[in-house]
Amino acid sequence: MEKILILDFGGQYNRLIARRVREQHVYCELHPHDMPLDEIRRFDPIGIIFTGGPHSVYLADSPKADPGVFELGVPILGICYGCQLLAQALGGLVIAAEDASAREYGKTETVFDPSCALFRDLPEESVTWMSHGDFMARVPEGFRLTAHSAACPTAAICDEERGFYGVQFHPEVDHTAFGREMLRNYLYTVCGAHGDWTMADFKRRSVDELRARVGRGRVLLALSGGVDSSVLAALLSEAVGRQLSCVFVDHGLLRKREADEVEAAFSSRALDFRRVDAGGRFLDRLRGVTEPEEKRHIIGEEFIRVFEAEAKKIGAADYLAQGTIYPDVIESGLGQSAVIKSHHNVGGLPDTVGFKEVLEPLRLLFKDEVRQLGRELGLPESLVARQPFPGPGLAIRVIGEVTEEKIALLREADAIFREEIAKAGLDRTASQYFAVLTNLRSVGVMGDGRSYDYAVALRSVQTSDFMTADFSRLPWELLDRVSVRIVNEVTGVNRVLYDITSKPPATVEYE
Ligand code: XMP
Repeated sequence: MEKILILDFGGQYNRLIARRVREQHVYCELHPHDMPLDEIRRFDPIGIIFTGGPHSVYLADSPKADPGVFELGVPILGICYGCQLLAQALGGLVIAAEDASAREYGKTETVFDPSCALFRDLPEESVTWMSHGDFMARVPEGFRLTAHSAACPTAAICDEERGFYGVQFHPEVDHTAFGREMLRNYLYTVCGAHGDWTMADFKRRSVDELRARVGRGRVLLALSGGVDSSVLAALLSEAVGRQLSCVFVDHGLLRKREADEVEAAFSSRALDFRRVDAGGRFLDRLRGVTEPEEKRHIIGEEFIRVFEAEAKKIGAADYLAQGTIYPDVIESGLGQSAVIKSHHNVGGLPDTVGFKEVLEPLRLLFKDEVRQLGRELGLPESLVARQPFPGPGLAIRVIGEVTEEKIALLREADAIFREEIAKAGLDRTASQYFAVLTNLRSVGVMGDGRSYDYAVALRSVQTSDFMTADFSRLPWELLDRVSVRIVNEVTGVNRVLYDITSKPPATVEYE
């Protein structure tokens, strides 16, 4: 398989570069900038991309790549900091832009030389996204300038003979009008890629590998019903179906009809599917608990207990399968961030269920690739296109104490909201949308009488990575319909609010 290596210099768009490369059907991996040369050789890339980063290349402690990388005979594309690093390492000069007019941030009209392979068949002038305070004052020997803007004469450089290309702007962000095409030119024209990364191939390879690795062993999977674990269940069922046991713990905090949909999708497959209805246990443990982190911990812990008990009934398993995906891998391997909420995922199971090894067949896939794989595996669209749903479920969408009545009420309100969003055709454009039961009760008038009931909050957000999010500008008519339906159809609710906060400062979920 053809591979692109992306060396990470700490820029904020690094993951996006990886996604853009994969979108072009070329496999890539993101690795730390100081990846040792022999590992790079073993990785055997057809091209290397240096990402952007917040540092200045001329400072002694700024991140560098092993200089041997320039001797491998592999084409290199440097982006922003990566471009400056390339220039400096090969004898150019990078300096701070002392004059503020030489710094560029934001959309910038840029002029290109179409004879450069990166810009082939593209307009000679278009908008790019710049974000730099340093610039290349002198380009290295053998390089020529291939783009400029009003403020920056060195917006792109190349040495075609050696296969070295650098762009001062960010082709990976949407604001760069022809960024995708430039990356495509790099991959296909410069690196000679053929585009052999497809989910059909991935499926075939994974099935073969799983069969070889598992042999006659038994595999245990905790199935949450979310996209990742559902796709993993389908993949494993195709590879080693009869040796697979899936334990689906219904913690009683799922959305309307969700548990039955999961069961319907898997019960017909050749695997041992076990649904454990454990709602009562979870609600018992949550009684009187109002603190969000405590709720999360209780649910995570209880989940493990129920899963362990079921695993014991099944007997010894050789492998535990987990739905880890590439963003989790990147996050744990390349950076540290503050814990805002302790996420509960079914992946975090302890080493007490008696398995020998952990299988993570999806660990190299991005979410959209996981979805694509799910389609290849014949999962219904209702499961594959499912919006993210947190492990602790509706418990963190009921503010304050969780009771059976509140969950039932929220389930109905949420189902109405989702139904109306789908009817309006907005289910594909909103990234995540749901109802929340606030613990606010207020006075209303229904018929001729006074009511004192709950307020339901509606939340709908637009986001590409869930790290930041903007609230969806939903049509008033839609919000009106949802509000009328919820107040009329859900007893106990007399007020509907729409949340217009972005993340940050709010988060997507309420707890
Ligand atoms: P926040 O609320 O942190 O949510 O802005 C960002 C995204 O993460 C989802 N989320 C979770 N997913 N286990 C999960 O698997 C969790 O405990 C959890 N908490 C939040 C949330 O739905 C949103 O998509």
